[in-house]
Amino acid sequence: MDTHNHLLLLVPLLLLINMATFCFGDLRKDFEITWGNGRAHILDNGKLLTLSLDKASGSGFQSKREYLFGKIDMQLKLVPGNSAGTVTAYYLSSKGSAWDEIDFEFLGNLSGDPYILHTNVFSHGKGNREQQFYLWFDPTADFHSYSILWNPKHIVFYVDEIPIRVFKNLESKGVPFPNKQPMRIHSSLWNADDWATRGGLIKTDWTKAPFTASYRNFKVTAAAAASTAARGSGRTSEELDARSENRLKWVQKKYMIYNYCTDTKRFPHGFPPEC
Ligand SMILES: *[C@@H]1O[C@H](CO)[C@@H](O)[C@H](O)[C@H]1NC(C)=O
Repeated sequence: MDTHNHLLLLVPLLLLINMATFCFGDLRKDFEITWGNGRAHILDNGKLLTLSLDKASGSGFQSKREYLFGKIDMQLKLVPGNSAGTVTAYYLSSKGSAWDEIDFEFLGNLSGDPYILHTNVFSHGKGNREQQFYLWFDPTADFHSYSILWNPKHIVFYVDEIPIRVFKNLESKGVPFPNKQPMRIHSSLWNADDWATRGGLIKTDWTKAPFTASYRNFKVTAAAAASTAARGSGRTSEELDARSENRLKWVQKKYMIYNYCTDTKRFPHGFPPEC
């Protein structure tokens, strides 16, 4: 069979997968509320999840399943208005003292001032691989998708399907890579006004509480399926195509505000090997 026929088969298959997500997407099936004493809710027949934070407590949820590789998509709408001091964490994590973790953290700000999107990758309990970004839109005005593609070759962070960060598997250079421990999806909304906004200078304004973040349109594509789809579009799952590569460069040039790989104060004697 030639490539053309493969594509013909792939299109209906992908449609079917999309329809299945559309028809059967029910957050109650995939997630459980883990803390917050009634501050987290799954609403609209499982189509919407909300977390809230007030002076007494934040709240959180986790996936019922664990995942080992895959592309994990979720749409989030962040705390609007004066969100200074609040942090919305959305991440994958395994268990134990040598845990692996792939993080998105959204640091709130005063009305009109930009959120910071903080990212990190932990392997075997060790992180220290922070990269931070501003977003090119207001993440509180509407839902936007935040995705993690995790396969044995690399981890790619996406915002609205635009890659913002790639963490390659460089085990060959001695850099530990998360590829053995299955991870659960976790999210929480909490108060971090001791550090989150302008380094902790701006405190949470509790007169604006409760603060609420919302989630919808969760989707997981197995790593194998994700790479089949990638092959269908003429590339391998290990590399970004030229368009994605350009977009990655655009984000990193215009919106990246911190990169551990260029922090000479922190690494005066040379950067970690993956840099
Ligand atoms: C908040 O806004 C200030 C001023 O624009 C900016 O320096 C800072 O990076 C923003 N984000 C956070 C989380 O502090």
